[in-house]
Amino acid sequence: MDEVGPALRRAAEIVAAYRAGLADARVTPVASRAEVRAALGGLPDGPTPLDDVIGELVEAASPGLMASSGPRYFGFVVGGSLDAALVADAITSGWEQNAFNEALSPAAIAFEDVAGTWLKELLGLPETASVGFTTGAQGANTVGLAAGRWHVLHEHGWDVGRDGLHGAPRVRVVVGDERHGTIDRAVRLLGLGESAIVAVPALPDGAMDTSALAGVLEDGDGPAIVCAQAGNVNTGACDDLPRLAEVARAAGAWVHVDGAFGLWAAASPRTRHLVDGIELADSWACDGHKWLNVPYDSGYAFCAHPEVHATAMAYTAAYLTGQVAGRELGGGDFVLESSRRARGFATWAALRSLGRSGVAGLVDRCCELARRLATALSEVDGIEIANDVVLNQVLVRLGDADLTDRLEREIQDDGTCWLGATTWRGERLLRVAVSNWSTTEADVDLVAATIARLRSELV
Ligand SMILES: Cc1ncc(COP(=O)(O)O)c(C=O)c1O
Repeated sequence: MDEVGPALRRAAEIVAAYRAGLADARVTPVASRAEVRAALGGLPDGPTPLDDVIGELVEAASPGLMASSGPRYFGFVVGGSLDAALVADAITSGWEQNAFNEALSPAAIAFEDVAGTWLKELLGLPETASVGFTTGAQGANTVGLAAGRWHVLHEHGWDVGRDGLHGAPRVRVVVGDERHGTIDRAVRLLGLGESAIVAVPALPDGAMDTSALAGVLEDGDGPAIVCAQAGNVNTGACDDLPRLAEVARAAGAWVHVDGAFGLWAAASPRTRHLVDGIELADSWACDGHKWLNVPYDSGYAFCAHPEVHATAMAYTAAYLTGQVAGRELGGGDFVLESSRRARGFATWAALRSLGRSGVAGLVDRCCELARRLATALSEVDGIEIANDVVLNQVLVRLGDADLTDRLEREIQDDGTCWLGATTWRGERLLRVAVSNWSTTEADVDLVAATIARLRSELV
């Protein structure tokens, strides 16, 4: 009997009902990790029918689900998923393609080719850049820095692919003081070691103080990578890319941009100026699962030098059909993984459904809602906005650290919305990231009212 057809239709109904309920749902889960685990029991001796497996899965998981794909989730930087992207992603699971290369799935690679071209156009990147579809910005930062490591060592007469790092010239990785932690992890994973990191002081908004960059670069010699940031995870601030690129180039350094969410500023004429000069870099990291609202997981590693990108990442073996000189690169050549999910379908569907104006509208709407929230909160007695809201990030000053931490817990327990606290320049603040396509003005107003109400109950 065909069991899977009815089960898939049931799955579609479960997902559709879940999504339909998100606008009114409690955001915070009611069950903890331990409670969900306890509901699952031990490994059974024999098989369980498909229907029962799915029934149990949904019943046990539901209380522990975070409504992070809904309109009032403002933690970290988390997008929802556009309808087209979600459905494309569900079909991707059904098709179960291995997106390693064209021999394994021409369609998967072709969709990455086309979606990659569209992404470069929207993000203002060189049309000749290579694109790797990664698991996220962590993967993309690692790929970009791997390409940079290969290149700067090659320029110093060292083949890191063949000879590794033992005895290699020391590579400096010059970063802003307020870089994202994934840069440090990438530097560790690439064997450069955290001591290779040289931090340039940050301006009050968290962007790199590029006036200090030349001095830092002159302070040492040898191969260097300069790591810029488009979109600070706390403030949304972007580095001065033209200045940074000019100084880095003069020192012969590779320029990598971590633009996990901030690179999307390029897609709207209203925010494009924040990332002017973006095309001057050598490699870029960006996420699909944040601001483009593609389901997890989805990121992009771009490189202005496809041959360097592929030399740093690709591998070949006798059994790999089509692995011959002169073939068209793509898929597994540009990422860390060999066998991999076909992420091009969902990204293509997101871009096809929104079009150029839709992507710009999504960016603009989130920025407008961030400003609306900031305005509403700044009118509440005792609350201040601690950053210049240039993008979709808002930092909220509620009082001292103790009050902020207590309020964070109250907000999360209340469940109307989900927000987290952060420490910014020594101060505990509430952090809001507006990245979801479905968030409305009413959601933002409700969040402002909830924060004000819960604060007034605590002070
Ligand atoms: C600036 C920046 N870089 C990198 C990352 C890591 O992204 P991912 O979790 O997709 O790997 C983030 C996540 O918030 C980020 O904001």
